[in-house]
Amino acid sequence: MPLIKNAWYCAAWSETLTRQPMQRKFLGDTIVLYRTERGDPVALSNRCPHRFAPMHKGCLKGDDIECPYHGLRFDATGRCVHNPHGDGHIPKAAQLKSYPLFERDGIVWIWMGDPERADPATVLDSQYTAFVRDAKTFAVGFGDLQVKANYLLVMDNLLDLTHAPYVHPNTVGGRPEDSIQGGMHVGFEEDEQSVTSTYFVPDMPPTPQLQPLFPLPAGDFRIHMRWQPSSALAMRLTMTPPGQPDGSGVVLPLLHLLTPIDESHTHYFFALARNVAIDVPAAHEAMMEFARRAFEEEDEPMIAACQEQMGTTDLFSLKPVLLQTDVASVKARRRVDALVQQEGR
Ligand code: FES
Ligand SMILES: [Fe+2]
Repeated sequence: MPLIKNAWYCAAWSETLTRQPMQRKFLGDTIVLYRTERGDPVALSNRCPHRFAPMHKGCLKGDDIECPYHGLRFDATGRCVHNPHGDGHIPKAAQLKSYPLFERDGIVWIWMGDPERADPATVLDSQYTAFVRDAKTFAVGFGDLQVKANYLLVMDNLLDLTHAPYVHPNTVGGRPEDSIQGGMHVGFEEDEQSVTSTYFVPDMPPTPQLQPLFPLPAGDFRIHMRWQPSSALAMRLTMTPPGQPDGSGVVLPLLHLLTPIDESHTHYFFALARNVAIDVPAAHEAMMEFARRAFEEEDEPMIAACQEQMGTTDLFSLKPVLLQTDVASVKARRRVDALVQQEGR
């Protein structure tokens, strides 16, 4: 299925974007990212228009970037401003494509489609991302990985967390006997902007990831996973003493931001935070290590293996068996279909 171009995608976590030019590939385009001296983020095509050298291997001269091959220099808007050769004439076509960016709450968003339509008002609302800068309440960590699969398969994975007891019993999932048979209640909600899946397991032993953060032998486990097009997921995981109100115990807000690299690869950005042990470095390392293992060593190989079995055939053309718990991902995929059709017109 074609990728949605007119949408904001995560290009980088703010803290990873520096004065060192960085290469990324999104929606099939190779991009160079860097910051100006003032700190503003810049995204330009990474292919020099002369002999197509990778611009990220060049160096910055002030706010300009110099090609590593013959030294053409481009400003932060992509305009060629210096040709060191011949009479210094700059051909009109000496231009790098520039991509709109928007930075807020530790996230640099990129717009890969028609620049005229890049409206910052349509970026994922700050109510879902503000925890990133709420240092009084939360300790936050960031990570990213590449998944060898179409982003819709990653989205399916996140909107259907019934896989957790099977794929993640030693990290972020409960044991099957504690959650499924213990009564996992799976719910679904939707509104105009979003599709959400919810999970509630009463009186469950804490998952390995929660054990250092939640001292009781059991608690009420809840997850709220909200997706909005094209591929931003905001999650809230809580563990409360049995019967206590949601949010009165451990609260972990997470972001899962999926940026297609191309049709069969995805750049998966994740952020997660906790409201307990926020000044304890060992708690931080443990939380991040569990997340990294879960996403990189457990989810990624499973999703990539499914993609391999599916080849390039679209999911629905393969007539997959549908379970009740697939409702959120099926609804989300329908909305993606509608957006793809709209773009095609
Ligand atoms: S390839 Fe960039 S200046 Fe020649
Ligand atoms: Fe998972």
